[in-house]
Amino acid sequence: MTNSVAPLELPEPLVVTLGNLKGGVGKTTSAFFLASYFARDHGLRVLVIDADPLSQTGYSWYRRLTKGKIEVPFELVAFPSRHVADCIADKAADFDVILVDAGGESADIFKAAVPASDQLLLLTSVSPSEVKRVPSTFRAAEEAAAGAGREIRVRVLLTKVPVVMKGGRNISTEYRGQRRNLENAGYEVFDSYVSAWKWYREAADGEVGEGAENPIADVAEYRQVGDELLSSYRALVEVPA
Ligand SMILES: Nc1ncnc2c1ncn2[C@@H]1O[C@H](COP(=O)(O)OP(=O)(O)O)[C@@H](O)[C@H]1O
Ligand SMILES: [Mg+2]
Repeated sequence: MTNSVAPLELPEPLVVTLGNLKGGVGKTTSAFFLASYFARDHGLRVLVIDADPLSQTGYSWYRRLTKGKIEVPFELVAFPSRHVADCIADKAADFDVILVDAGGESADIFKAAVPASDQLLLLTSVSPSEVKRVPSTFRAAEEAAAGAGREIRVRVLLTKVPVVMKGGRNISTEYRGQRRNLENAGYEVFDSYVSAWKWYREAADGEVGEGAENPIADVAEYRQVGDELLSSYRALVEVPA
């Protein structure tokens, strides 16, 4: 008999870079929600590295949460430097999962993070101008990994996806069209995606503190994304009936 709940066999630690050589695609938001998912759903020790030199949104968001006495189930360091691989190496022993928010526009930091990572989540919305940036980001990642003789799994995660549900399916033409374009071009695209929800936006920008809810208590669709990300680390085990 096959047991469907196979144990996780993660690299120690699992390092995931969230990147795109373009800003505003949902990297920081995704890093926070996925960090909460790994910490709360799996009890893992999680670190987020804010390596975005332009907009340290992660750093300010984390500060606001902790100052608002909200219990954040992960740690964050700001390390916006092309020596980000050293930061990963230095922290490796203390964490089970390290998420690198590799920032838009800084190719140097992105290329330094990639060879130190097991997985790259290439985030993009379905806007044509953002999807157009996927190939150059992918090539930069491939070059960086090859230069370091490292294998890295690259997958596209669609964010801010418009939703038009019909018969239990999202029939949004932008969503379906861009997914098809990416898949036809040979990219591995996550089955799960992150919808364009005001609620995600407010998580980063809304009020916190006295009486306010923890905006990242509910990881919502990031649970499916996280489960999909982890599925390749579950060994299929046979257990006696
Ligand atoms: N799924 C989503 N739905 C709606 N708004 C989102 C979503 N994800 C991110 N946002 C908003 O989009 C903006 C950019 O997101 P952010 O995570 O900061 O992107 P990046 O780190 O790639 O620059 C922010 O205002 C954020 O709150
Ligand atoms: Mg950001």
